[in-house]
Amino acid sequence: MCGIVGYIGYRESQPILIEGLKKLEYRGYDSAGIAVQTEQGLEVTKTVGRLANLESRLSGDPLRGTVGIGHTRWATHGKPSDVNSHPHTDNSLKFSVVHNGIIENYLELKEELVQAGHRFLSETDTEVISHLISVEYDGDIVKAVQRAVKKMRGAFALGVLTEYEPDRLVAVRYASPLIIGVGDGEKYIASDIPAILEHTRDIYILNDGEMAVLTRDAVELLTIEGNFISKEIFHVDWDLMTAEKAGFDHFMLKEIHEQPKAYRDTMLGRISDDGRSVELSELKMTAEQLKGINRVHIVACGTALHAGLVGKNVIESLVRVPVETDVASEYRYRSPIITPDTLVIVVSQSGETADTLAALREAQRCGARVLAITNVVGSSVAREADDVIITLAGPEIAVASTKAYSSQLIAFFLFGLYWAQTVGTRDEAAVAQVLAAMQSLPEQVEKLLAQAEVIKEVAESISHHSSLFFIGRGVDYAVAMEGSLKLKEISYIHSEAYAAGELKHGTLALIEEGTPVIALLTQEDLYEKMLSNIKETKARGAHVLGIVNEGQEQEVAKSVDRQFAIPRTLPLLTPALSVIPLQLLSYYASLALGHDVDKPRNLAKSVTVE
Ligand code: G6P
Repeated sequence: MCGIVGYIGYRESQPILIEGLKKLEYRGYDSAGIAVQTEQGLEVTKTVGRLANLESRLSGDPLRGTVGIGHTRWATHGKPSDVNSHPHTDNSLKFSVVHNGIIENYLELKEELVQAGHRFLSETDTEVISHLISVEYDGDIVKAVQRAVKKMRGAFALGVLTEYEPDRLVAVRYASPLIIGVGDGEKYIASDIPAILEHTRDIYILNDGEMAVLTRDAVELLTIEGNFISKEIFHVDWDLMTAEKAGFDHFMLKEIHEQPKAYRDTMLGRISDDGRSVELSELKMTAEQLKGINRVHIVACGTALHAGLVGKNVIESLVRVPVETDVASEYRYRSPIITPDTLVIVVSQSGETADTLAALREAQRCGARVLAITNVVGSSVAREADDVIITLAGPEIAVASTKAYSSQLIAFFLFGLYWAQTVGTRDEAAVAQVLAAMQSLPEQVEKLLAQAEVIKEVAESISHHSSLFFIGRGVDYAVAMEGSLKLKEISYIHSEAYAAGELKHGTLALIEEGTPVIALLTQEDLYEKMLSNIKETKARGAHVLGIVNEGQEQEVAKSVDRQFAIPRTLPLLTPALSVIPLQLLSYYASLALGHDVDKPRNLAKSVTVE
């Protein structure tokens, strides 16, 4: 997804912009550009492709100046090309804009501008913004931006420069994240904290409908209507090192290995000292409110939705309240039946996913209480939800989510137990038993990670196949879905996850000699059934890898071709372990195929458009 960086200070802006954009590369992009206030005026250099292309274009002809804006674009309106890249300018070349998000009424606006004689070079919605601002300009860039923004509908984070006022940088946020960095004689804008963390830890987080006017020495904060506001500085206390690779070949591998820490951190302070109860002091909802909840909707996208599928099993089993899960982009448009006793749980690593945020707002509009499980403090989802459980996975950079997913599982275990202890569906001894098992998970993950080589071999052998299947029952089916998504995302091998009992109702037709099948068999009550389903695939020639519980290897040996054992835990908690070999499988398959593991094609880390 697009990235924005802006700088105003006393140093050359070009290197600061480029380095900042590099820190945002993980969001996914297809072109990049910068605009700088140079001695000759406002100059723009932009190009399709990686930042390295932009750097090589700039190396012969650098843009010199201490004020600039930069952008990495992830195409929405118009294909990736030089001309569609940002920054965009107006016809006079006096105004330059970088934009994240979508202007929904851009065609209408463009038509009016064309009739008034404006010429457009690109297919983008963003170019309309620079033209609009130029039309509205009468000597004050802040007022011009405010008037232009009033005409726009959609989602936007903007960085705006004009040659007429070379010592000001204007930033606007409306439904697309933007932060302001405060340094001594230097100010920054960025769509995400890592972009500027090297320079400052003091930031303002803009809310929707807010803007900032940056000069070298001050930041003026106001609403887009022009009312001045004040805000507390948010001091970032995590380190840039945590956002770097720390000796691993890829962010994804590093993040897979950070899962024991992520589990410990997410549990930290949330389990009583005697280990017999869950303490979620961050929840504002009272015990009475929790007792009054009779149904749950879990809404999310991608991997976060898969964590929600496990969450459904957890809540239904511990609390016996019915749970529906839904894709966020569907939820908001299908008139969900939300009653006053419905709790909506949104799950989002970034807390900025447009569809998840829209679902949250729709749920609140319909009167539901919303609980967010998110990894980012201060994100839109975290700020707007009624209650928030922060997962403490730390920044996740690889596009394919790993530690964020598994920390979301921990959050669901904690919340399910908290709810069960509050309403009394589990007694203290039962809660203590689950908590004890949870506290062993980090060490058990470490044990699994030490066997990565075994999975590497399997991954290399499946990487030659063009299609494979993941099967499971109960929570194993939920994990199978995540395993399949992970493999597709980064290895580009087609795979499908199936409820093992459903395979024979059509999909079994696709199994042929040698088709790899990854079968999860961690649920003892479903074990016999799984063995039958595995046999059905083997009879058609499938080559089966079984993910089994330690101690079951001998029993399963006759039914599968290879197996990988996970340490023993309670049946409900197995997803926190069984997902690890699946993450490693996709990582090593992608590696074997020579793909860009951390930045898979066509995908973005944070999807802030619908
Ligand atoms: C994108 C990412 C996925 C992620 C999904 C939801 O598609 O590539 O890895 O699961 O968005 O993101 P969120 O930040 O809401 O969890």
